[in-house]
Amino acid sequence: MKKLIIFNWKMAPQLLGEAKRLLAYNLRRMTNNKNTEIIVCPPFIYLSGLSSVVSRRSSVKLGAQNVFWESSGAYTGEISPTMLKDLDIEYVIIGHSERRKYLNETDEMINKKILASLKAGLKVILCVGEDLAIRRRGKKAVENFIEKQLEKDLRGLSKVKSQKSKVIVAYEPVWAISTSKSSHSDTPEDALEIIKYIKSLVISQWSVVIPVLYGGSADSKNIADFLKYKEINGALVGQASLKIGEVRKIIEIVSSCGS
Ligand code: PGA
Repeated sequence: MKKLIIFNWKMAPQLLGEAKRLLAYNLRRMTNNKNTEIIVCPPFIYLSGLSSVVSRRSSVKLGAQNVFWESSGAYTGEISPTMLKDLDIEYVIIGHSERRKYLNETDEMINKKILASLKAGLKVILCVGEDLAIRRRGKKAVENFIEKQLEKDLRGLSKVKSQKSKVIVAYEPVWAISTSKSSHSDTPEDALEIIKYIKSLVISQWSVVIPVLYGGSADSKNIADFLKYKEINGALVGQASLKIGEVRKIIEIVSSCGS
């Protein structure tokens, strides 16, 4: 199975020219790469400028970092799933912990975004993960928390039958994300346990096998340790995806992990 790497650029780089150079670099490194798919998720404002550079057959695709749940209307500042589709965007990240924290995104909002995106034909990358206080309470507490997040975020998924296989989950323990105060990556073994748990939960609740990725301070030094497990289908990479040297090494490592 191909490994899937999501490069989440967050609110960077600051200039479109830099974004174009970084994307072009990704495209060059990925030429003839059959084992890996890279999804680059730039800020909204760059998507239209970058979409003309990426071809449908390329193993580099574009994704958005967010979306709104209505297809049109008086929703100042929002972007609809239809608008993303019109730019040939295939993927959208939904429920990132930074949006949950700084924009007060609730599970109910995330659920509406997921259903609307799937109906529009987008592939959804749903982020879930616990904070440090929950992690300190132990594995059972983490599992309970994630089970509740998934239940609320994926409510109604069975009704969008043909689309439910278009969901990807990124397990991102909030404390492991590079910008959090306590940041250091999770251990691959602990991440593997939770990823297996997520997969079993989704199969039992929604009868669908989904790819699950790891995210949280993933970089060229640790990514191979996560991806060596077949159950970990890829990684969501933030900070390291903005550094040319890291992008080169990550692509090299991941290409040798896929099969
Ligand atoms: P990080 O970000 O790789 O910088 O920790 C991951 C994320 O927030 O998606």
